[in-house]
Amino acid sequence: INDFGVKNEPVYEYLKGSKERVELEKELKETAAKTEDVPIIIGDKEFRTKDVRYQVMPHNHKKQIAKFYYADRDLLNKAIETACEAQKKWDMVPIPERLRIWETAASLMASQYRAKLNAATMLGQAKTIIQAEIDSAAELIDFFRLNAYFLKEATKYQPISENPKITKNSMRYRGIDGFIAAVSPFNFTAIGGNLAYTPALMGNSVLWKPSDTALLSNWVIFNICREAGVPPGVVNFVPADGPVFGDTITASPHLAGINFTGSVPTFTRLWKQVGENIHIYKNFPRLIGECGGKNYHFIHPTADVETVVNGTIRSAFEFCGQKCSACSRMYVPESLWPKIKEGLLAKRAQLKIGDPTDPQSFTSAVIDDKAFKRIKNYVDHAKKSPNLEIIGGGNLMTVWATSSNRRLSRPKIPRIKLLTEEIFGPVLSIYVYKDNKIKETMDLIGTSTSFALTGAIFAQDEKFSKSAVEELKMTAGNFYVNDKSTGSVVGQQPFGGARLSGTNDKAGGPHYVLRWGNPQAIKETF
Ligand code: ALA
Repeated sequence: INDFGVKNEPVYEYLKGSKERVELEKELKETAAKTEDVPIIIGDKEFRTKDVRYQVMPHNHKKQIAKFYYADRDLLNKAIETACEAQKKWDMVPIPERLRIWETAASLMASQYRAKLNAATMLGQAKTIIQAEIDSAAELIDFFRLNAYFLKEATKYQPISENPKITKNSMRYRGIDGFIAAVSPFNFTAIGGNLAYTPALMGNSVLWKPSDTALLSNWVIFNICREAGVPPGVVNFVPADGPVFGDTITASPHLAGINFTGSVPTFTRLWKQVGENIHIYKNFPRLIGECGGKNYHFIHPTADVETVVNGTIRSAFEFCGQKCSACSRMYVPESLWPKIKEGLLAKRAQLKIGDPTDPQSFTSAVIDDKAFKRIKNYVDHAKKSPNLEIIGGGNLMTVWATSSNRRLSRPKIPRIKLLTEEIFGPVLSIYVYKDNKIKETMDLIGTSTSFALTGAIFAQDEKFSKSAVEELKMTAGNFYVNDKSTGSVVGQQPFGGARLSGTNDKAGGPHYVLRWGNPQAIKETF
């Protein structure tokens, strides 16, 4: 039982012969054997347009696992109209009834559909068993259960009534008149569930644009929620071209909010469009965005080398470094560098990169060709740069670049792309600093990028780690001391960052669901 009084969903191990492993293997076979036809859903109606798309397995591009359709402007406008209509009734459904639906959905995800969710995530997004389990099972279920719990807790607060026989004050939570647009990424199935369904829990209606490369797993979530009792029109499933979706939703006077996870340029574009159209809206649209990071591991000379090596390998290379929280830059003192380098290389040599369904695989393919090319450009850049030493890799794209402070003068550092730009792939850039330059190196962490998502400090000197969290407070929304920068747990480490990493509304925290509310304070005089 955590501090909030609700238990997190356990993470299964999928041992050979276990019930869950048998179920998962069956589901993997069935999912791989077909191409699921996924319609657009608006209200209770299915639509199929001529703009046909396919989701392929990242590790086997010949295998299409889903066929889907892009909604055009007319359909998106129809979805807006349907959502706005549905919102009026949905907002009248008492909160306890909504909480019951969310609990039913969480239970269906935890039992009946766990294998289906994991299979769709493993095959569609190339996640290994454990990476799928912590995402499309545990985290997704936690989002549904804990957000329901947080809403229930929030409604317990009632304002002071000094003399309730004469004047009674009360507060209630309502949804916002209009619709919310949810734009979700490929890298976490759970994020799709959270972005689309948490505003809905609060009494809003949603247009959900899932990522093309997470289509199948997101479709499974949608169907579970329908089965659990989310009424038609409350969440509308509308895959679409990004700019067409963005242009259409921001041109509607009914836009009440955008719940976004993705790139900085896309979020910026949406924000600008909302700004340009601000006079047309009935409400000031709420904008929540999580936009990535350039996350770091800072290693103090007192750090435990084994903890550093294990944590860094996992953070930088699990799921090919495609978590927004993944460690992408590391600052190592010269005194520990030989041991850390040796540890990283030894560990790296043991990692199997292969089919995500092979339980021996540590990681698999990156999501698509576009990502592959982008990452390869960074690696090629590193190879060409005379100041960088490539110390590992060759196999797929697991390449480490290290910049040595003997050869690089400090002012040049911020211009090293590998240490400043988000790569979103299995590339770890290491900066080796002189042991007596701790303060200068910490300054560098804060000044070399505009992101501030996650950061980890490895130090056995507790006084130092406490002061470093303070010193680096502007550089991350989620800090870890002696642990890797990935793996936040809903309700335990509410997740999100500031600066260009986003609006830091802390998914998995108690206030996230409240951001979607339109609370009313009522004073009754008798
Ligand atoms: N919440 C995810 C993590 O912390 C992104 O790894």
